[in-house]
Order: sequence, then structure tokens, then C-alpha cells
Amino acid sequence: MAQQKATNITWHEAAVTAEDRERLLNQKGCVIWFTGLSGSGKSTLANAVEQVLHQQNHHTYVLDGDNVRHGLNKNLGFSPEDREENIRRIGEVAKLFADAGTIVMTAFISPYHADRDQARELMAEGRFVEVFVDCSLEVCEERDTKGLYKKARAGEIKEFTGISAPYEPPLDPEVTVNTVEFSVEECAQAVIAFLVKVGLVPADS
Ligand code: ADX
Repeated sequence: MAQQKATNITWHEAAVTAEDRERLLNQKGCVIWFTGLSGSGKSTLANAVEQVLHQQNHHTYVLDGDNVRHGLNKNLGFSPEDREENIRRIGEVAKLFADAGTIVMTAFISPYHADRDQARELMAEGRFVEVFVDCSLEVCEERDTKGLYKKARAGEIKEFTGISAPYEPPLDPEVTVNTVEFSVEECAQAVIAFLVKVGLVPADS
């Protein structure tokens, strides 16, 4: 748990509220949290969902693990502590995006229950949608899109998720999509269908 270091800080109430922004944008800010093994299809799926929503005139943004680790989180590695801090920061950033009225999609392995739950707790009820991108280790390893599993098996990458570091699958995600059995389009539609079902996006948009 991150420690509060700063003292003598006061919360300043905003003149324009989240509700004001949502009215202007005509949408509900929320976080769609994709979790799964490396190579399971999180980024691909988050981008596919974003494309559909964008075409329906929604304001969207994708926060992607590999990309965020080039900038905001460049000082973090893959130890359990660094992964926790990675996810803590992303949870906070996602919350800011959602507060700005954006539909934000996050694509991080986020291997630990506790860290994902912490990100969920930052959001209002119903504004956090956990999507388990379900793909067996065997298939991820077979795909090996970045060649990292091969390196991990050879011992060239330490603490690699699924090989030498744990992945805790969600116990009760809002949506589970299986990227072994279903296409990217089918999985994206399953996510959109859930968003429509719970009223986060309108059915006819
Ligand atoms: S997380 O565990 O902290 O959520 P994150 O999603 O940001 O991970 O980054 C994962 C990506 O970093 C992987 O898709 C892969 O490209 C790369 N990577 C490099 N080293 C590792 C490692 N040891 N374990 C997992 N992914 C790694």
C-alpha cells in the first residue's frame, strides 16, 4: 500500500464537476480494465473495443502496459512491488481519465487480485469493468508475439508472468473473453454488449 508522504495538503473542489463534463460529452466516464497473460490479446482487444466506441462518437483512451512503461512508469520493473506500484499508478491515472468523462481502457497484465481490487475501489460502483482476457499459457507461448516466452524459458528474463512469476486470474470479472476460441471482433462485441447491458453506453449508439 502506497504511503501518504505529503502533509499540509488540502483538497480543492472543482468548479466544473464530473457530472458537468459527462453532460457535455453525453457519455459516462468509466474504466474498462483488461487483465491477462502477456500475449493473451489485451492490447489488441482494448484497441478493437476503442475503435468501435470511437466510431460511435465516444471519447476514449487506451492505457497500454508496454507504452506506459516507456514514460510514466519507466522507473518500474517487474518485481511484485514494482508491479503493484505500476498498477496503483495506472488505477489513479485511469480514475482521472474517467473523471474527465473518458471511457478509458487499460491493458496491463495486472497479475495480482489485490492490485486490481485496489484499482476497482478507486471508482464509483458500476464504473469499473474488469475483463478477463482468458488465454491458456500454452497458446500465449505458442503465439509468442514478442519472443519473450522463449527468452523467459531460456532464463534470459527473470520473473516472467506465467513462467517464473504468478498470474492470479480474476474470480468474479464482469466479462470473460476467450481469445483462443473467439476472434478479436467477437470478443470486442462481447465487451460492448456488456457495456450496453449495464447502461454505460447506449444500445443504439
Ligand atoms: S504488469 O505485470 O505490471 O501489469 P505490464 O502489463 O505493465 O505488467 O507489462 C507487461 C509487458 O511487459 C509484457 O506484455 C511484456 O511485453 C513486457 N515484459 C517484460 N518483462 C516482463 C516480465 N518479467 N513479466 C511480464 N511481462 C514482461
